[in-house]
Amino acid sequence: MDIRFDGKVALVTGASRGIGLAVATTLAESGASVMLSSRKAEALEAATAGIAGETAWHVANAGEPDQAAACVEATLERFGRLDILVNNAATNPYAGPTVGIDVARFDKTVAVNWRGPLVWSQEAWRQWMADHGGSIVNVSSIGGLTVEPTIGIYNGTKAALIHLTRQLAMELAPGVRVNAVLPGLVKTDMARALWERGEEKIAARVPMRRLGEPADIAAATAFLCSDHATWITGTTLVVDGGMLLGS
Ligand SMILES: NC(=O)c1ccc[n+]([C@@H]2O[C@H](COP(=O)([O-])OP(=O)(O)OC[C@H]3O[C@@H](n4cnc5c(N)ncnc54)[C@H](OP(=O)(O)O)[C@@H]3O)[C@@H](O)[C@H]2O)c1
Repeated sequence: MDIRFDGKVALVTGASRGIGLAVATTLAESGASVMLSSRKAEALEAATAGIAGETAWHVANAGEPDQAAACVEATLERFGRLDILVNNAATNPYAGPTVGIDVARFDKTVAVNWRGPLVWSQEAWRQWMADHGGSIVNVSSIGGLTVEPTIGIYNGTKAALIHLTRQLAMELAPGVRVNAVLPGLVKTDMARALWERGEEKIAARVPMRRLGEPADIAAATAFLCSDHATWITGTTLVVDGGMLLGS
């Protein structure tokens, strides 16, 4: 089964590194024209330079609705259509007991991780997908299905994102499919504190005996975006090497 995106246009948030960069790379190298977005121009410039395929970049904070609207507009101006939106950007500014979180960091987490995917989906729908169809993939987390001691609000936004995925899937069908991928522990900057020290020990407890790589998540995301998944909507695809099985 060959997954191709020739003639398709994708927009990926949080695309300058980690999972977002892997998704953008996979889609571009499979034929899509890809708009990469995140907050820092320099990082985006470097990211696009490393991808073989048609790409462009646009600076936008995923938690700022005006910037979401402008980025979708820029994608349409640059590439003339928008078939795929990957809501990947997220933040985790607080680690500690949930009762200790302050309002500013609570609001930031919710604005980027939960309101963000809604607003970007609204803009994609309003500016293109309502008339032409499309596919949206939200990058949630297995944390959205579990309870952990120090990242309760981050996980809460990921649980809310699973619900939003199902809700939008019902509302936007049949023109637009909406699905979620739920990564386990993946070796990126965001999760560095969780895996850098003691990777081997953690891997030994994972049924597949290794941590995730960004490419693992990119492959699942590409499948959900593709024409091989046209009867799949509202689903959550866990990609975790079996981590959840022991929970
Ligand atoms: N790594 C894991 O173990 C893991 C597990 C489960 C789920 N996830 C999810 O996977 C997704 C990607 O995470 P990652 O691990 O790849 O993280 P990462 O390597 O830290 O990359 C995060 C990306 O998002 C961008 N970003 C951060 N805040 C942003 C904002 N407010 N607006 C726009 N862009 C923003 C960053 O670029 P700038 O800083 O330049 O903006 C960067 O491109 C997230 O949704 C995360 O929750 C990760």
